[in-house]
Amino acid sequence: MWAWSSLLLGYLLGSISFSFLAGKLLKGIDIRQHGSGNAGATNTLRVLGKGPGITVLVLDMLKGVAAVWLGYLLSGGDPLFLVLAGISVIVGHNWPVFFGFRGGKGIATTIGVMVSLAFLPALLAGLAAILSIAWTRYVSLGSLLFTALLPLFIWLMGRPMEIFWLSLLLFVFAWFRHRSNIVKLVKGQENKLGAKRQA
Ligand code: G3P
Repeated sequence: MWAWSSLLLGYLLGSISFSFLAGKLLKGIDIRQHGSGNAGATNTLRVLGKGPGITVLVLDMLKGVAAVWLGYLLSGGDPLFLVLAGISVIVGHNWPVFFGFRGGKGIATTIGVMVSLAFLPALLAGLAAILSIAWTRYVSLGSLLFTALLPLFIWLMGRPMEIFWLSLLLFVFAWFRHRSNIVKLVKGQENKLGAKRQA
């Protein structure tokens, strides 16, 4: 009974859009009307600067960690509920009930969830993503690479199957949410980290 409440709590937690709040509090703007239009850490960095961007990145990651912990505490460590809490918090981040269901792309929150559930695979996928971002300046490419490598590393390292299926689902979420980024990457029109003007 209590275990199931971790789904609702995870969703509500995910629905707290820190990038939206940062935009409102710091500049009185809706971050979704600026930059790439995404309510996420990358766009916060782009629109509001480094400090707010890094703060939102950390807070969005912590949402993922906190949701998995809630799932753990409320279920007594039942792996099913850790996975469900992880899905809920990312669904909340992407489609937040408090902000008209228009949220972010879920990468920072995915990092928080997966670092909690599969530390080493997430670390290795994260390192590959950071290298690709440093090399190309495309954050979206790093995000796509991170979510694509996760299932592979989890499988190669023999982690539990429920974690593998979760990572596969999060890969689908992330690529779906990055549809417009993928089109821009293919056309060579994607926003580069540090570049000024965004479409
Ligand atoms: O995590 C989001 C990032 O991959 C892309 O963000 O604002 O460039 O669409 P953005």
